[in-house]
Amino acid sequence: MSDSFILQGDILYSESPSCIRAVRDGFLVVEKGICQGVFETLPAAAAHTEVTDYRGRLIIPGMTDLHLHAPQYAFRGMWMDEELLDWLNRHTFPIEARYADAQFAREAYAQFRDAIRRSATTRAVMFATIHRDTTVQLMDLMEETGIISYVGKVNMDRNSPDILREENAAKSLADTVLWLDETEGRYAHTHPILTPRFVPSCSDELMEGLGRLSYERGLPVQSHLSENVGEIAWVKELCPWSAHYGDAYDRYGLLGSGAKSVMAHCVHSSEEELQLMKARGTFIAHCPDSNANIASGIAPVRHYLDEGLHVGLGTDVAGGATLSMFAVMREAVQHSKLRWRLKDDSLRWLTFAEAFYMATVGGGAFFGRVGSFARGYEADILVLDDHVLKTPLMSELTLPERLERVIYLGHSTCILHKYVRGAQLF
Ligand code: GUN
Ligand code: FE
Repeated sequence: MSDSFILQGDILYSESPSCIRAVRDGFLVVEKGICQGVFETLPAAAAHTEVTDYRGRLIIPGMTDLHLHAPQYAFRGMWMDEELLDWLNRHTFPIEARYADAQFAREAYAQFRDAIRRSATTRAVMFATIHRDTTVQLMDLMEETGIISYVGKVNMDRNSPDILREENAAKSLADTVLWLDETEGRYAHTHPILTPRFVPSCSDELMEGLGRLSYERGLPVQSHLSENVGEIAWVKELCPWSAHYGDAYDRYGLLGSGAKSVMAHCVHSSEEELQLMKARGTFIAHCPDSNANIASGIAPVRHYLDEGLHVGLGTDVAGGATLSMFAVMREAVQHSKLRWRLKDDSLRWLTFAEAFYMATVGGGAFFGRVGSFARGYEADILVLDDHVLKTPLMSELTLPERLERVIYLGHSTCILHKYVRGAQLF
């Protein structure tokens, strides 16, 4: 199939955070990988373009996983009886250290590649580890999937075990430059992103160097922010000069002053920190599965949306147990309801439509015009079969009801086809 085509089926996409547009038996017109819009009848101008008949199937935009750790896929679904700092030291760091071994990395990353390829994810922003060679292996494997991704070689030069710490800031920066030079021009779908792990793992000198590199090369940045109460107190000790945790990134230009920046979690961000993120255009990756598993808390996402911040969703594997963006959407809604009931009823819970918006348009914006079927958006598409989720009510259901069922019950077995920027991956 060329990258100009028409798909016919039951089409849904977000028009705004509160509004899902649904067209039964509609036509999604794609030209050279770009959406031309969704039509109720076949437009005359498209009369000569091939139409693929997916009638009876749901057609929705692909999803952006705005935060995950590829090396942690190996230990997903276990070791959840800790909070963040103990979980990192006891479990995460020892496993990540093993990615110094190319053979271990090849096996682990190949398993990760197969899983993300079949998932609902069409765009992803991910951490690798500190190891340059095996980060390149991961990028090679991600390139094979056709998913468009940002992959980061992690920087860590302090407060980490010997087995997972770079010698010093200069060595960490030099290795990062080598990695950037080595991978430049090598991929069509896979891009580098600067990745200071979080403030406790990175000296001021390293942060300053990464800020310079981001500025000089126009490179985006990913990190963690205000995830856990103990972590935030530790950052205050490490950076007594900072007004708040976000300021410890911003001081070095890492919160999105020039290139884009995405910060995972922001569970406990102060109003001052939020206003700074708003000024900088920082993206927030909300990761509810992880925030529950390692007992971080529930981010006030309603407030972030009301403030007009950029918010997307992340699985945060392996703080999050699964690569399923469907599960993360569901949890975003569920956690917001618990927060509303138990903590603050002035912040209304998130609706299903808002979770769908964050998983598609919200996170997609990190990649540009991504996550919608409106004219001009890149054609990232999922074709779903919800008939496998049997119910005698099927013929009575509206399209949004059918979509909600897939998200709540669903499963990668519902995903029949996936397209990224107009190219069919399966
Ligand atoms: N903060 C620093 N490193 C990590 C990590 O690997 N996972 C999570 N959830 N938070 C972090
Ligand atoms: Fe994370």
